[in-house]
Amino acid sequence: MVTLNLEGLSAFFSDQLSANSIPVHTVSKAGFKDWLSSLTEAEKNWVNANDFNGSRHSRLSFADDNGRISRVILGLGDGDERADPWAFGGLAKSLPPGDYHLADISDPHDLYHASLGWALGQYQFENYLKAKNNKTSRLYLPETQDRSLIASIVRSTFLVRDLVNTPTCDMGPDELAAAASEIAREFSASIHVTVGDELLEKGYNAIHTVGRAAEKAPRLIDFSWGDEKAPKVTLVGKGVCFDTGGLDLKPSSAMLIMKKDMGGAAHVLGLARLIMEQKLNVRLRVLIPAVENNVSGNAFRPGDIIRTYKGKTVEVGNTDAEGRLVLCDALALATEEKPELMIDFATLTGAARVALGPDIPPFFTDSQKLADDLGQHAIRQGDPVWRLPLYGPYLKFMDSDIADLNNNGSSPFAGAITAALFLKEFTEGAREWMHIDTYAWNQSPRPGRPKGGEAMGLRAVFSYLADRFKN
Ligand code: BES
Ligand code: ZN
Ligand code: ZN
Repeated sequence: MVTLNLEGLSAFFSDQLSANSIPVHTVSKAGFKDWLSSLTEAEKNWVNANDFNGSRHSRLSFADDNGRISRVILGLGDGDERADPWAFGGLAKSLPPGDYHLADISDPHDLYHASLGWALGQYQFENYLKAKNNKTSRLYLPETQDRSLIASIVRSTFLVRDLVNTPTCDMGPDELAAAASEIAREFSASIHVTVGDELLEKGYNAIHTVGRAAEKAPRLIDFSWGDEKAPKVTLVGKGVCFDTGGLDLKPSSAMLIMKKDMGGAAHVLGLARLIMEQKLNVRLRVLIPAVENNVSGNAFRPGDIIRTYKGKTVEVGNTDAEGRLVLCDALALATEEKPELMIDFATLTGAARVALGPDIPPFFTDSQKLADDLGQHAIRQGDPVWRLPLYGPYLKFMDSDIADLNNNGSSPFAGAITAALFLKEFTEGAREWMHIDTYAWNQSPRPGRPKGGEAMGLRAVFSYLADRFKN
């Protein structure tokens, strides 16, 4: 596991403008003509020789008389860089290692996004590679920037990516709990982990049922931090360290990336880290049911009925709808202390991807204010999320003849909504609740976003929380 510390971050940023820092300028397609006309004949020829036209993610370097880079031009295309870190995502990796500064971006919000893209684009998951790339480029962060906040966001995003990218052989329920303990310890949070048969004693039957067939015992991670009198905010994350689908096995193409099925847990840990490092005024609680949905002689079966922690019984229509099972126990536990706000993150349904594609996590809440505010923060952070409805009548799709609920919808439609409605059945007691169905994964690489684990909705939700619970 890579744990990035503050020294690690000084590989990406400097707080002093060094004498040999190379200026980076930006040019959009719209501004290209004017920019070109400001250049010397020789420079114009250089632009043409390189076929540079300001298109997004394109880059051109100019040299001085000694052949050293004198300035770099980044193309922004048609884009508006103001709330889009990814416009700068590919830049650092395309440049030789060194010190750089943004010469013509002065708006602090634009600089914030550019800085994030700069650092996030230098992420590499190389724990399993012999040849490591230690080359990084540093960007000057002027005083207008909240260096601590940017560092926190970069660290948390890297944490989410690392946790998701680490294969299940090294990121099972035990290792996920160890990662949570490490984070809890760093911020002096108190942590308790309920493991194996102890889950049954406490009534977390759904968590145990899903995880019992795996070699590594299922567990419930529970940590708390902050002033006990502060508003209670509880985060719940789906920690399915691998999802074979259980006996209703997934096809191999779908199973291939299921190490990422603890992406919700990764998001919750990243968010918790941000909350604690930025010292938000909350009493934070983090709950992660950590299991592997695997097959063995004692695996749970389609048709089984589980008596969940809340007391509601659930008929197993499909063992691949395991996320809502492990979450329902954690959510029901969380509601006992009546949190002011409860948020769960989960790689819950393929249907969420069908609805909104891989980049936009749908969120669900009955709170109009929460939805409106989160939408605003998502735009400001360039971190899209989109509300889907908790449309009550669809709950009938989750009916069972012989239990209180079925975990599998009887209709092929609205799978992300029915999964959210299932969860909602276990949230009574929380003053506000929001569920985010995240993909947590980049299917193919894009500038700033390498293939693999990805934080989605993290900045939007943190920004919302920071605004609501500022210290
Ligand atoms: N982990 C999957 C959901 C998933 C699949 C997320 C692919 C991201 C990419 C979840 O446990 C699952 O298998 N859900 C089923 C539910 C169905 C059986 C009701 C699904 O979405 O197909
Ligand atoms: Zn599944
Ligand atoms: Zn799953």
